[in-house]
Amino acid sequence: MIKYLNMVNVGPSPEMELEFGKRLNLITGDNGLGKSFLLDIAWWALTRRWPAEINTALTAGKKALPNTYEEEAKISFSFTSKTKEERYDSSYLRKEQAWTGRPGRPANPGLVLYAMSDGSFSVWDPHRNYWRTQDGIDIQDRLPAYVFNPGQVWDGLPGKGNTWLCNGLILDWAGWQKERGEPFSHLKEVLEVLSPSERELLAPGELTRISIDESRDIPTIRMPYQQDVPVVHASSGIRRIIALAYLLVWAWEEHKQAAKQLGETATSQIIFLIDEIESHLHPSWQRRIVPALLHVMTKLNAGTNVQLITATHSPLIMTSVEPLFDSEQDAWFDLDFEKRKVVLRRREFEKHGDAATWLISEAFDLKSGRSIEYENLVEEAAALLENPNPLKKEITSMNQKLIQALSPKDDFLFRWRTICNKKGLME
Ligand SMILES: Nc1ncnc2c1ncn2[C@@H]1O[C@H](COP(=O)(O)OP(=O)(O)O)[C@@H](O)[C@H]1O
Ligand SMILES: [Mg+2]
Repeated sequence: MIKYLNMVNVGPSPEMELEFGKRLNLITGDNGLGKSFLLDIAWWALTRRWPAEINTALTAGKKALPNTYEEEAKISFSFTSKTKEERYDSSYLRKEQAWTGRPGRPANPGLVLYAMSDGSFSVWDPHRNYWRTQDGIDIQDRLPAYVFNPGQVWDGLPGKGNTWLCNGLILDWAGWQKERGEPFSHLKEVLEVLSPSERELLAPGELTRISIDESRDIPTIRMPYQQDVPVVHASSGIRRIIALAYLLVWAWEEHKQAAKQLGETATSQIIFLIDEIESHLHPSWQRRIVPALLHVMTKLNAGTNVQLITATHSPLIMTSVEPLFDSEQDAWFDLDFEKRKVVLRRREFEKHGDAATWLISEAFDLKSGRSIEYENLVEEAAALLENPNPLKKEITSMNQKLIQALSPKDDFLFRWRTICNKKGLME
């Protein structure tokens, strides 16, 4: 589990510091304040690799650069392995154009997965990607990590020469489905838990062919209208979720295989970093995804510690975690732009009850969930109510505008009427 992260003179802020919760960590903040950046740094701290350096087709996951050349840029972090917690300090060396620090591998963080906002995906497996050290020098004799661009998640990740590091969703899913073994049962379970609702369960349909020029059997999703839709034609929301489900199952199955070959045990820790977790999902799905993911990750292996770190712009995601949020093991970090600086804070998690109230909380800093025009109108009307002697004709005209603009059930309209009546302002 990652425990601590501190960045000085790197990224959008002079300093950022995080003490992570050991289970769920949420990151909120306006566009461009550093949510994805924080996830990139967390991935790097755990794996010591920048995704875009491993796979140059990526548009996300670039190496972090200092924001000033006047002072030293530093990244410090700590995480726990099965046995110990170790702190690690790194600083940016301009001559080497690299982050360096004490040589030697840090503790083993377990299995690390990172779903980036551009649809690319990285996996770091302690059995397949761990590096050796000899005489204090890191020797990278294994693959540094599995980094997929969005297409490779589906069509496979090529290795050196004629090798394939991963077959990709289409071939693996079809192969698993034909075998009817454990990976397919796992995939079906994960898809079911991650479904948009109980009425619309994500379930595999029959394999199909989509063209005479495509020789692969294409997996399908059984839609509620009883049609099997080839996964390549599924909606963006479904494709996002089936890619997450596939990579979770793939990473875990391959990890178990590697453990067996090496005569080791499977890891007891999984860390999942997910950027913009709500992307492409309908509100009803947004309300389910975080609890569902925590649930499936815990189910992969009994006794596994699961840490989920996710950035979000969705008030429904915040609402959805209210029943499970536990400040002993969970944390919420919020980025704000204040006095021309980006400030990161760990905030006390309070229940707000519904998405509209979350919108006007510190997480999203809106004045209301209305359209900008109507928000301005309501503010104007509220100011009119503050006025000790408003003109009757002003009230009448505002009343007309409010009736036209707002829903008859609107809370403000109700308050407006009550106050106007009490003050005898309404005809
Ligand atoms: N690799 C990087 N090195 C240094 N700074 C970065 C890097 N990537 C992003 N940043 C900084 O972080 C800011 C926020 O970017 P990002 O994390 O993508 O925002 P968001 O909160 O919308 O996810 C950028 O404007 C830039 O200042
Ligand atoms: Mg982002």
